[in-house]
Amino acid sequence: MRFKEQVVFITGGAKGLGKAIAKEFLAEGAYVGVNGRNAEAIKRFEEEFKGQPVLAFNTDVTDYEGMERVAAKVVEKWGKVDILINNAGVVNPLVPLEKIKKEDFDKVIDINLKGTFYAIQTFGKRMIEARNGRIVSISSQVGLFGEKGFLPYTISKSALMVMARSLAYEWSKYGVTICTLAPGFIKGGMNEGLIRKEVFVEFLSKKTPIGRMCTVEELVSCVLFLASKDAQYINGETITMDGGMTGYTPDSLLDFIGKGK
Ligand SMILES: NC(=O)c1ccc[n+]([C@@H]2O[C@H](COP(=O)([O-])OP(=O)(O)OC[C@H]3O[C@@H](n4cnc5c(N)ncnc54)[C@H](OP(=O)(O)O)[C@@H]3O)[C@@H](O)[C@H]2O)c1
Repeated sequence: MRFKEQVVFITGGAKGLGKAIAKEFLAEGAYVGVNGRNAEAIKRFEEEFKGQPVLAFNTDVTDYEGMERVAAKVVEKWGKVDILINNAGVVNPLVPLEKIKKEDFDKVIDINLKGTFYAIQTFGKRMIEARNGRIVSISSQVGLFGEKGFLPYTISKSALMVMARSLAYEWSKYGVTICTLAPGFIKGGMNEGLIRKEVFVEFLSKKTPIGRMCTVEELVSCVLFLASKDAQYINGETITMDGGMTGYTPDSLLDFIGKGK
């Protein structure tokens, strides 16, 4: 039980990858709080984990005052917050840069970037008071080098990486550390619709040297590792878990020369 009686808050933790992360923290002895915009999902989460130490809030991460109330209630109930997982995130409709609508750009930046900052500030000030805290932000591999069609998303995810750097410089002295995880394409969560079509699974698998998408279990295991004491010296850093995809071009010169023989 790596997280016995540790208090963990996961933004957007009632659905998708966040819920899988919540389930594993509970299995490892943690008290888990989550939030989300969808009231039905919040209710389902409460029902699924009834009898376990959970708190679920129908609060949007872009609502600063709402997040302040959520953080206050978590600390009121359990006396502290040890770990914050910044998981809430949305992706923009996949279109070229010249066709991105202003409202789509604003929405992605509001949720992925501003929302993460709001969670960090509202929960983080309580960590500072306690002189103890660990923050893990879920970024994305596409935040490292950009990707066609994903401009708002890539900017928002890239910003989380530098946010972690700055925060490590500022908050380490208070006993609060942070790191960022940059996963590749995961077989679940926001890709649930895509992966029902085998053609997409094949396409995304071919983009990675490892030859397959990342499983939800692999993602969860990495998040818990980064939140754990085993990873405490990883601070301000972004860890990539993308099966070797970063910088990879499936058609290499080596293969091309081979074909030309
Ligand atoms: N799946 C992947 O391949 C992949 C790869 C790299 C990184 N990621 C990152 O992993 C994180 C989780 O993604 P996922 O795949 O699990 O996506 P998902 O299934 O769409 O889940 C997103 C979660 O974020 C919550 N959320 C969205 N906007 C919110 C808001 N304004 N306030 C509060 N909660 C909000 C959603 O709940 P509500 O809709 O109820 O608000 C939901 O619980 C995201 O940050 C994503 O960018 C995913």
